[in-house]
Amino acid sequence: MTCRRFFAVRLLQLERPTPMKMSFSDLDLAKKGTLVVTVAEDRALLASAAQVDALTQGAVARAMAASRFTGKFGQTLELLAPVGLEASRVLLLGLGKLAELTDAKAESLGATAYAAVSGQPETHLAVALDPLTGDLSTATFAARLAHGAHLRAYRFDKYLTKQKAEDKPSLEKITVLLADHSAAKKAYADFDKLADGVIYARDLVTEPGNVLNPETYADRLKDLEKAGLEIDVLTLKDLKKLGMGALIGVGQGSKSESRVVVMCWNGGKDGAAPVAFVGKGVTFDSGGLSLKSAKGMEDMKWDMGGSAAVVGTLLALAGRKAKVNAVGIVGLVENMPSANAQRPGDVVTSMSGQTIEVLNTDAEGRLVLADILWYTQDRFKPVAMINLATLTGAIITALGHEHAGLFANNDALADAILTAGKDTGETLWRMPLGEAYDSLLKSPIADMKNIGDGGAGSTVAAVFLQRFVNEVPWAHLDIAGVAWANKDKGVVPKGASGWGVRLLDQLVKTHYEA
Ligand code: BES
Ligand code: MN
Ligand code: ZN
Repeated sequence: MTCRRFFAVRLLQLERPTPMKMSFSDLDLAKKGTLVVTVAEDRALLASAAQVDALTQGAVARAMAASRFTGKFGQTLELLAPVGLEASRVLLLGLGKLAELTDAKAESLGATAYAAVSGQPETHLAVALDPLTGDLSTATFAARLAHGAHLRAYRFDKYLTKQKAEDKPSLEKITVLLADHSAAKKAYADFDKLADGVIYARDLVTEPGNVLNPETYADRLKDLEKAGLEIDVLTLKDLKKLGMGALIGVGQGSKSESRVVVMCWNGGKDGAAPVAFVGKGVTFDSGGLSLKSAKGMEDMKWDMGGSAAVVGTLLALAGRKAKVNAVGIVGLVENMPSANAQRPGDVVTSMSGQTIEVLNTDAEGRLVLADILWYTQDRFKPVAMINLATLTGAIITALGHEHAGLFANNDALADAILTAGKDTGETLWRMPLGEAYDSLLKSPIADMKNIGDGGAGSTVAAVFLQRFVNEVPWAHLDIAGVAWANKDKGVVPKGASGWGVRLLDQLVKTHYEA
């Protein structure tokens, strides 16, 4: 008898799904698929909606009369298989009061239009955009509307091997119809690059901890040289040489070696000081020996959301060839319990020379950031240094999922970030720092301990970071509440949000580009 071995070869689809085709063309309502037309408050049909109403012998007016749709901002009403049109459905989209429209609202409208048809067997979505009045440019509005739809259409399905055809999104193409379509297309080019950054960040955040660890993460980032970024991977040996004892302590319980990755985009003047973005990249946070509960650990693959935002931002800046010098520094570690893990009570020496008593190994993000913040200001002398981190559960208690926490040592920088937040919908709320909180870090055995005494958890973490920041204008964004969406919301489908990429791109555009 012979034994035969069968080697099953399974090819896992590892590429991103075919991207959504985005286009802009003339205001021609003869379109297959879903046709979106707009209605202002109090059922005021804009030109295209009025035209559709005429072509369908008044179906639009009758549908409105039979429903609660009044044209309020974000409302939708669907008309199926309308007589007199090629479209298989018409979607009425409420714009609300026209005088209150903003560019930021355009993105949310695009997301709403996409969401309204995403469950349907439709391949094409066309949005008819009639000329806007007032200060808004119809072309920019159209570009941002397309951007919003594109971001909402994101999905991560590479590990879904059994998805039925009817459960897969069928939409392939989104077209915005407007008179000034060539200007819209031009304005969209930068948003397309921005979306690449957001999507890259979301993909990183969604990857599970067994796939994305510090080593595989750093390898992926090395690939971004293709995008025009300079990438420098610091290995454990380098980190030891630099004296990054705080970061190394966090990663020492893991099988995967810690890494720090430095990304540079040099689009500004030669030798001009860069703006620096610094990210917490804990690829999995078990808590270490201060082990989390099973429930508390479920989300911890996305404890690298800060680093992903930094990576996505650099990618977006390179993609749109931003006229700025920017550096992105990410600290990649896995926080695991093992015989080699750091113990509560251990004392580590950070790159700054300051010693830290690690009383809770689950307060690890601040230890990682302590060393890379110090490294960043020391090596790059940046004009500003902004770090992003899923740092504390306490920021979720304080702000929920509506705002990220903002801590800053500089009011002008804080205001610039708050404004960029309002412009992009990635909003923040400023929180305090201060001597009174800093004194809670006193340790009997080292220069400081890594936790406080219970209260003000997010601020205690922030003042800890501040001990590793010198004169440079600095801001810390605690994104624990916004890095992952538990439900669909605006331009973010349930899951990884890519929060921070759009915010930082906007900040660079408005404050640091030549
Ligand atoms: N990664 C967590 C913070 C977190 C919690 C992010 C929930 C997202 C959702 C962080 O490393 C942590 O464990 N922080 C502790 C600090 C505490 C031990 C002082 C926390 O918030 O409980
Ligand atoms: Mn932790
Ligand atoms: Zn963490």
